[in-house]
Amino acid sequence: MRARSGKVKPACRGGVPRIEGYPLSAGYDSAWVFENEMGPSALWLAEALSKRMGFVPGMRVLDLGCGRGMSSVFLAREFESRVTAADLWISPDENFRTFAEAGVLDRVFPLRAEAHDLPFASGYFDAIVSIDSYQYYGTDDMYLKYVLRFLRKGGAIGIVVPGLTAEFKSGVPEYLTRRQKSGAVFWDPAECFSFHTPAWWRNHWEKTGLVDVEHAGLIEDGWRLWLSWEEARDGGGFSGFPSDAEAIREDAGKHLGFAVVVGRKR
Ligand SMILES: C[S@@+](CC[C@H](N)C(=O)[O-])C[C@H]1O[C@@H](n2cnc3c(N)ncnc32)[C@H](O)[C@@H]1O
Repeated sequence: MRARSGKVKPACRGGVPRIEGYPLSAGYDSAWVFENEMGPSALWLAEALSKRMGFVPGMRVLDLGCGRGMSSVFLAREFESRVTAADLWISPDENFRTFAEAGVLDRVFPLRAEAHDLPFASGYFDAIVSIDSYQYYGTDDMYLKYVLRFLRKGGAIGIVVPGLTAEFKSGVPEYLTRRQKSGAVFWDPAECFSFHTPAWWRNHWEKTGLVDVEHAGLIEDGWRLWLSWEEARDGGGFSGFPSDAEAIREDAGKHLGFAVVVGRKR
């Protein structure tokens, strides 16, 4: 499972399916979603997280590792958040265009930022979110302390990360390391060792004593959501990156899913 950073124009024969429980995401154009994807639908993941975050209009929100900014557009549109859309790989020039086209420039500010060198005032944000990105830097024991510097006391930090429903008892299953018919190998050890269970994340944050963990759980039927995404990309003729559908289907939620973690700064 490799993060996707290249932009590929979709043929978009099919569309992004409507998923029960994700009514807000259903309001976005499929071609736009496919064009800006960098992994499993950022809109679904942002919507799942938003149910736990208590957003209110006007909040200053940091979207850390926003990629092509779909979650930033989503938070600005759906919750009237004032979003700082920070990313490393995707340039602010590109995201500026995306936000202008989406009509949210008055509420979303594109920025290039490295997660360990953030250019913000202490306590500036009311909330920090990170969608399919925190696993790249946040497994470091010291990172939570660093990023919380930019969150006000009582503010919420929420992440959604690809994760594990259960730890592997006897190594990574063969079907995750095998080459799929699409050509992709799901389990790239250089990245996937950062996948953890919600319990792991809870302990990772609670042991710091810096946050009260309000939620650490799995997205319900997260593997089905993930599979729906891979199948939609296949069905849409979106051939820029090989599909992981085969591995996710075979796993059927035995190990793979999405962890959602929300903490409140003490
Ligand atoms: C898999 S992509 C997900 C992007 C977006 N959140 C989404 O869901 O479409 C991971 C993102 O994390 C960002 N990222 C990884 N390491 C980072 C770091 N050290 N500092 C800032 N962003 C980082 C990358 O730039 C990339 O856009």
